[in-house]
Amino acid sequence: MNRIAFLLFSLLPLAGFTLAGDTPAPRVDDLNQVIQDRFGNLTEEDIHQGRFGVTRVARPARRRIFVPVDEKERAPIVRLREEGWSASLYVLGLGDTLYGPIGTSPEGLPAALDRAEVLRLGKGAIDKRQALQGVQSDVRLEARPIPVSGKSCAGCHDPSLKEGDPLGAVVYVLRRTTSP
Ligand code: HEC
Repeated sequence: MNRIAFLLFSLLPLAGFTLAGDTPAPRVDDLNQVIQDRFGNLTEEDIHQGRFGVTRVARPARRRIFVPVDEKERAPIVRLREEGWSASLYVLGLGDTLYGPIGTSPEGLPAALDRAEVLRLGKGAIDKRQALQGVQSDVRLEARPIPVSGKSCAGCHDPSLKEGDPLGAVVYVLRRTTSP
């Protein structure tokens, strides 16, 4: 069963490639690094202010938006935009709570996706502890686990967790804005 699931997941990117034409895959790794760094670096102030989980990347609001704090955080989003992609994301907690969509630009509300599909991909990334890709109509999805990245994480979440164990997942949504 596992093997079949794995095969399906591995075929998804291929299907996406055909659907999206010969568009080169969006480079989400740099953006992922920025988001993972947000989750991975909890300061004393964050703890005092109660900034945990999804509020690390977007404040609770009717329209959630990821606001880069500096050039390092901004650069990957700008580059994706220059390459013709607009990015938004979802955060999946371990209790299967899905937050999002979270936009990366003040203009352009991220269009609604099939949440069940986003959830499925995020859970898959958590279960398999690996990056997964998917396609939904005209968008590409990229899921990445959010791992335990230091003693503090497990201390708060679950002391039995080890370094690298997933605490959730991010699912990036990449929408083509210009032709390549
Ligand atoms: C001081 C306690 C504390 C520490 C330390 C902590 N977390 Fe959390 N984390 C929380 C709480 C509380 C929530 C749930 C937030 C909510 O539901 O509003 C959470 C939620 C999450 C979520 C799921 C998203 C969500 O909102 O449900 C992820 C992923 C996460 N934390 C990752 C991490 C990582 C990675 C670390 C280590 C670098 C870490 N956390 C350290 C308290 C903590």
